[in-house]
Amino acid sequence: MNDQTLTDRFGDAEMLRNPYEYYSRLREEKKVFFSESLNAFVVCRFSDIEQVLQNPALFVNTPPSSQASAHAHYAERYYKLYDDAGLPRRVPVLAMTDGDLHRRYRDLINPRFTASAVKRMEDRLVAVVDGLIDTFIERGANGTGSVDLYSEFALLVPLFFFCDTLGVPRTNIRMMQDAGAASISLVTGALLDEEGRVAAHMKLIEYSKFIQKHIDRLRRDPDDSLLSHMIHHETRDGDRLSDQEIISMCATLNTGGNETTTNGIGNTLYAAVRDPEILARLNENRDLIPKFTEEVIRQDSPIAATIRWASEDAMIGETPIPKGSAVHVRLAAGNRDEQQYDHASCVDLDRSGIRNHLGFGYGIHYCVGVHLSRAEIRISLARLLDRLEDIRIDPGKTPIEYNDAGMVHGLQALPVTFRKKAL
Ligand code: HEM
Repeated sequence: MNDQTLTDRFGDAEMLRNPYEYYSRLREEKKVFFSESLNAFVVCRFSDIEQVLQNPALFVNTPPSSQASAHAHYAERYYKLYDDAGLPRRVPVLAMTDGDLHRRYRDLINPRFTASAVKRMEDRLVAVVDGLIDTFIERGANGTGSVDLYSEFALLVPLFFFCDTLGVPRTNIRMMQDAGAASISLVTGALLDEEGRVAAHMKLIEYSKFIQKHIDRLRRDPDDSLLSHMIHHETRDGDRLSDQEIISMCATLNTGGNETTTNGIGNTLYAAVRDPEILARLNENRDLIPKFTEEVIRQDSPIAATIRWASEDAMIGETPIPKGSAVHVRLAAGNRDEQQYDHASCVDLDRSGIRNHLGFGYGIHYCVGVHLSRAEIRISLARLLDRLEDIRIDPGKTPIEYNDAGMVHGLQALPVTFRKKAL
């Protein structure tokens, strides 16, 4: 095979559902690949990804203004929709910022997501997970049952917990989920048509209205929630965030924390239930669960890619990257690079340096929620194993399919049957 045989498949839903074979060919045949459909250079090798992510001055997170129309999130013409709704325009925060501005947002929320802060959240997490298991465990008859572990569990664990942590009611889960999906689709704006972009912004507007209402409430009446923290806590610059910044932070956390963790839980449960041997090992030895979840994050990464922009003419390996170009960093491809990992496509619980992967990113934008998401996935799997047995993929509802989202990677559904464990 040579370069000529390798076409651009980034607009191809089938490839996006099952991307690993294609990634492998890209790593071997195209060091750095220009995708017309993404209007971006695509980087798949671990060493090239490392080079991009460890050089935040050259490969920045803020899109150049000339690229704003491709990067539809911040395109000027969509701002009018926010003006018309009487809402502050969205501003770039966290993953969309660089340098001091990035630190402004990161420093404000870091203390809420440290390992010790997450440790203190564990009882609440167990309660959320158990509450969801309660709703489907009693539904069956004679101690047996069935459930879609994706839509009735993996989807809801992070969303319920996010609402509780942020300090807003759990009543608008569907709207929050739609807003998260809309944000993600706008990041790959080049793949949406005009109608799709407007529809996505309208979802975000609905979410913004909801958050604005709770900002107004918590400004009058502070509490211990994350939203209240963002409203009342002083930034490193000695001021407080504006409503515009807070709404944008909430949108970023909704995107960054929910669909990602849903896919983390879903992909982990799928990897466990489709392999009875692994399931039995995890059941016998719960200490293996953190290693297992870490390997799934590497080997079936919930965030498939992230984007950077060349602030100057640059080189990635031997490929010239013109100033202003978008660079799609395919974390999921780097995580299966055989140059970096032995038998990279396998889950190996004995792998040394098991946390050294790209699934939570690399460098200054490394995932804020890493401790929280690890806890959510670990507790989800552990409580299911504590309370259910004989968990099997429902044979009447196969095949199990992945979605074709492109930037994130997760299941469409995970239907299983089970028996309730006798306590
Ligand atoms: C399995 C679940 C998760 C995965 C796989 C994941 C993955 C990632 C990755 C790969 C990045 C780096 C993006 C980049 O470099 O552009 C990132 C950043 C980020 N994550 Fe997560 N994440 C997860 C859960 C969470 C949770 C629960 C939160 C909520 C607190 C969160 C909040 C964020 C934020 C705010 C950023 C941007 C950080 C920055 O720019 O400094 N993530 N995440």
